Amino acid sequence: MKFYRCCILTLFIITLLLFNIFTEAIPITNEDTSIFRIDLKRRGISKTIPNKSRLKLQQSQIIHKYSKLSKRDLQESSTSLLLVNEYYMDGCYYGTIIIGGQYFTVDFDTGSSDLWVPAIQCKFSECLFHNRFDPKMSPTFVLAPHPNNFTMVYGLDDDTSTVVCGYIGRDTVTLGGITVTNQTFGLATYDDLGYYEEDGVIGLAFPQLSIFEAPSVIQTMKDQKKINKALIAFHLGRHKLVPDDKSFADIGGVDPNAYVGEIVYNNLLDSLSCMGYWAITMDDVCVDQVSLGAANSAAIIDTGTTSIWGDSKCVKEIHKKIPGSFFIDVLSLWFIPCDTKAVVTLVFNNAPFEINPVELIIQEIKLGPLCQSAIQEMPEEIPSKIWLIGAFFLSNVYSVFDFDNHQIGFAKAKVVTSY
Ligand SMILES: *[C@@H]1O[C@H](CO)[C@@H](O)[C@H](O)[C@H]1NC(C)=O
Ligand SMILES: *[C@@H]1O[C@H](CO)[C@@H](O)[C@H](O)[C@H]1NC(C)=O
Ligand SMILES: *[C@@H]1O[C@H](CO)[C@@H](O)[C@H](O)[C@H]1NC(C)=O
Repeated sequence: MKFYRCCILTLFIITLLLFNIFTEAIPITNEDTSIFRIDLKRRGISKTIPNKSRLKLQQSQIIHKYSKLSKRDLQESSTSLLLVNEYYMDGCYYGTIIIGGQYFTVDFDTGSSDLWVPAIQCKFSECLFHNRFDPKMSPTFVLAPHPNNFTMVYGLDDDTSTVVCGYIGRDTVTLGGITVTNQTFGLATYDDLGYYEEDGVIGLAFPQLSIFEAPSVIQTMKDQKKINKALIAFHLGRHKLVPDDKSFADIGGVDPNAYVGEIVYNNLLDSLSCMGYWAITMDDVCVDQVSLGAANSAAIIDTGTTSIWGDSKCVKEIHKKIPGSFFIDVLSLWFIPCDTKAVVTLVFNNAPFEINPVELIIQEIKLGPLCQSAIQEMPEEIPSKIWLIGAFFLSNVYSVFDFDNHQIGFAKAKVVTSY
């Protein structure tokens, strides 16, 4: 354990040295002056994690992140926040946020609802390599009223469980050049969570999922009249296809230069959106134009998940139609030829969206000529009719999360190499 952690820390320091991670917001010159843009970066895969635990961890992280939906009675599910999304995977997108004048990198996560970063009080070695929030350095910081402590549990069994504790505060937050006051956020004083590269997470789902019971940053922007529309849209760059394709998020409006054709909107599904999730109906899944009849599935759209997790029967069907695919029993994961040409299409509100074959494989996780498939069977703890749609799909589209109208829109992504 210590060895891997050490490697990660070393890698992280090198990353810090190589890149200026604190990028500025880019104002868009557009008719709609109320659009604000944040530059995002795609996290690379951590090669130092042993493959076996990496794979097991992906599944346990999904189960834990979605413990509210779990059939299993997870004791702590009411307080568990899904810390980071598949820590070990590539495909997560992060950007910079300023809290009380201090800079942090955060994962943009539409699958959770809280903003949190490490606190200066965290003395564990992992924390020392992250930016930590120091309340004393911020004249605008206030503690939330008591009780303002929180506990989150991460992991499913005694071997991997970690308790994360912290406290809740409020401060001025700047994101994409927009500044709001009195934003609630968590300060983690945690133990043993050293693998991930970002400092924290910005949760962008609805307040029903928030363990701090606080409005998200986007909602606060709207409440404080800093934006006209409570909306965030993502263009997640397809670096495997076009190395300099940009990743960014637009707040307050959509940018017509980021997509091709029309945005097709989907109403949120009441049953899941009332729990706080961004969820819509998926009409179908097709492989090379052949429908697999996955009509009326519920799909949670989660920028903080890397892969696509779905109904196991349908996921088996999908792989049956991909020549050379292989289920590895000991890992409970599907692998497909790294050079597959199969085109998987997800259909939402009658609009088909193709996943480029390059985005269908996780090229870093290889078994000979096979690569881990981007589409996997949902762990059986989660009800089988629910799909989780992560970055490997979302990088093919411009995705619009519209809080005001309770809808999600997709349009085909345009390659954007400059703005
Ligand atoms: C483990 O992952 C590395 C790359 O991260 C890969 O080169 C190696 O082949 C993998 N081994 C197995 C057994 O999957
Ligand atoms: C907050 O702290 C109190 C006192 O230490 C403790 O009893 C309680 O369980 C904590 N609550 C949470 C949510 O961590
Ligand atoms: C600050 O935010 C909290 C929680 O979101 C809210 O209850 C409180 O009224 C706000 N205070 C001010 C001064 O706006």
